[in-house]
Amino acid sequence: MATLSPAPRLTRRLDLLDVAKVRAEFPIFERCRHRPLIYLDSAASSQKPRAVIEAMTAYYETGHANVHRGVYALAEEATGRYEQSRAAVARFIGAPSTREVIFTKNATEALNLVAAAWGRANLGPGDVVVLTEMEHHANLVPWLMLAEELGVQLRYLGITDDGHLDLAHLDATLAGARIVSLTAASNVLGTLNPVRPVADAAHAAGAVVVVDASQYVPHVATDVVALGADFVAFTGHKMLGPTGIGVLWGREELLDAMPPFLGGGEMIRDVRLDGFTANELPWKFEAGTPPIAEAIGLGAAIGVLEGLGMDAVRDHEKALSEYALRTLDAHFGAELQVHGPRDPSERNGVVSFTFRDLHPHDVAQVLDQSGVCVRAGHHCAKPLLRRLGVNATTRASWYVYNDASDIDALVQALDACAELFGP
Ligand code: ALA
Repeated sequence: MATLSPAPRLTRRLDLLDVAKVRAEFPIFERCRHRPLIYLDSAASSQKPRAVIEAMTAYYETGHANVHRGVYALAEEATGRYEQSRAAVARFIGAPSTREVIFTKNATEALNLVAAAWGRANLGPGDVVVLTEMEHHANLVPWLMLAEELGVQLRYLGITDDGHLDLAHLDATLAGARIVSLTAASNVLGTLNPVRPVADAAHAAGAVVVVDASQYVPHVATDVVALGADFVAFTGHKMLGPTGIGVLWGREELLDAMPPFLGGGEMIRDVRLDGFTANELPWKFEAGTPPIAEAIGLGAAIGVLEGLGMDAVRDHEKALSEYALRTLDAHFGAELQVHGPRDPSERNGVVSFTFRDLHPHDVAQVLDQSGVCVRAGHHCAKPLLRRLGVNATTRASWYVYNDASDIDALVQALDACAELFGP
């Protein structure tokens, strides 16, 4: 039974990052003097540091022009800043070349790009695409669309009851596969998946490997080559950057051999009335005026994360996950069921849970009265939730600006929720 006793106090040091100093760089935490903002929804979208906001404002105030078009100084300056951000992304993820870094609108567009451009060029009826049961809809629906359009056959790696990928039948599932697309970290369970062994097995089976790293790149030092991937998709707004910018990294020879995704300006070298010649990489995949300010903002976000150090970011989040799992367990016992792995080293900073028999939307609304922001619902992963036997979960997630006091606030707000709804 939940009680109204104060949440347990922090008994161990969690100062791997200087959170007070980090928070001071995020203007949003200055709002709501009467009700502090306890932001535990970074898996949906992270908050933005001053450096990102200022880089985008400076571009609009003093540096705006279109890129790759004008020959005047202002346009060349804008092009330089845009391309500097591409170089920052390449450095951040260990990409061998900036030619392999494609700016997209978000991770969803990056995954659709692979499914549409690589898929249509390389797949036909009966060809096998392997996915997992823990994918976000963004890594399911594009392939389901290909199944409808081309008749490709979808196979799924299942999950174990404790929220890991079930690899018991990996080789059989991969037999004959042309492409394998999996998430590096589940947006619901937090599970960090063994991408490298799966990628090695997929390559041995002759398949190409796509990784949805939306919940991974913001939280774990990433080297796309070491990951063993052929394509990696992620989004800017979950890693301190703005919305409207995502990234597809792909191996150069694969991207070179693929047809363009969208057609229009910039992605061409020549256009005639009877045809066109595509531009070189990476611009071949960047049709139309790109999200310039957003790319510049993403470059600034990478600067902030590099300044903090991705190993420190990971250690901080892991310590918070350990504290959260231990505290929720000690305080609520069987009343609160956490989904996914129990070991914090096997998960990122995401904890989804079921609280008593309360609907997650009710829980999230009551938590909001205490200023605690969490996500409730199916988290765009309906097949996974069906596998878990629930329609929805409440999900709390943390990042560089959270500390143990935020977890304590969550516990206190859950106490208030228990009191409101009664025994
Ligand atoms: N994909 C984001 C999430 O999991 C929006 O919340």
